[in-house]
Amino acid sequence: MADQHAQSGEDKRPSETPAIRWEELPEGPVLVLLDQTRLPAEEVELVCTDASALVEAIGSLAVRGAPLLGIAGAYGVALAAARGFDVEDAANALAGARPTAVNLSVGVRRAKAAYEEETAKSGDPAQGARAALAAARQLHREDAEASARMAEHGLALLDELLPGGGHRVLTHCNTGSLVSGGEGTAFAVALAGHRAGRLRRLWVDETRPLLQGARLTAYEAARNGMAYTLLTDNAAGSLFAAGEVDAVLIGADRIAADGSVANKVGSYPLAVLARYHHVPFIVVAPVTTVDLETPDGASIEVEQRPGFEVTEVMASQAPVTGAGTGTPVAPLGTQAYNPAFDVTPPELVTAIVTEEGVVSPVTADALAGLRGKVAGA
Ligand code: MRU
Repeated sequence: MADQHAQSGEDKRPSETPAIRWEELPEGPVLVLLDQTRLPAEEVELVCTDASALVEAIGSLAVRGAPLLGIAGAYGVALAAARGFDVEDAANALAGARPTAVNLSVGVRRAKAAYEEETAKSGDPAQGARAALAAARQLHREDAEASARMAEHGLALLDELLPGGGHRVLTHCNTGSLVSGGEGTAFAVALAGHRAGRLRRLWVDETRPLLQGARLTAYEAARNGMAYTLLTDNAAGSLFAAGEVDAVLIGADRIAADGSVANKVGSYPLAVLARYHHVPFIVVAPVTTVDLETPDGASIEVEQRPGFEVTEVMASQAPVTGAGTGTPVAPLGTQAYNPAFDVTPPELVTAIVTEEGVVSPVTADALAGLRGKVAGA
């Protein structure tokens, strides 16, 4: 079950309302999410008392972004265990809530393994539940640490590739503190550049159809006092042509063993533009996003989303009918093609920045060097 708490004023910074938190209430533990579908208009918290509410929140993108999905998945298992639900069922439902971001299943697996190991050892599911929660908390902390290290490595790389300073960076989708235990992935690099006085401009793609760039990245950039400009996704070409982009920084939902990168739909066209205009295309992602079990880009499952997200603006799904609730912008009955992600081949990626360092050039051999640091590898 999910409940809603509207508890923030307009002037509250996002850092004061964490994207996710665990709370112990007298009636039992809950997982509290900042509902990202309501931003930037209002900061509303969504309170999940069971895994099925979390599965729904993941599907509606109330909680989203690869690293945060991993953290949410782990807490979801801990919640099911703590409330005495079937942990296996909850883990399966959570891992299947969205297919592309590998972090989700990594997080679910970690918490479930902790639960099973401790329950088997102690014979006490309550101790297993505590172990699952400890695993979720650890993943949450590790993600914050990874975020800080990615920011360092990423800014050093930008400085090396663009020695003149005054970086003008284009980004797509949302990759900041709303998707992370820390300050995010690609956005964290831009933020580090801003703090060091070396970010001249952050170009923010609006990111159709669900406007994660306009609603969330612009929100985070504004709250951090960054110099940013919002553009429609299809304005990026003319921006490159005008020589206004020094580098592209994006996150990733899954990186296959050959270095193919699945990220928010619209990333691949940016990579093609970047190559044509001789601009570095840099992917920033924690090692939890690298999936050495997926051999190549063609093997990555790309989530297909409902058509109403394209045929309507500001659409969400009505609870009972499943219909869109937005403003129609296409004739009734129009078919829509709505993949949530696309896949960029490794040859278009200048570098992948992880907390373990920079992989460049992006090759299967270089990524295999992360083996042992990648979950499940
Ligand atoms: O559909 P979303 O909003 O979950 O997509 C998110 C993205 O594509 C992000 O760029 C990706 O998860 C990397 S976040 C660090």
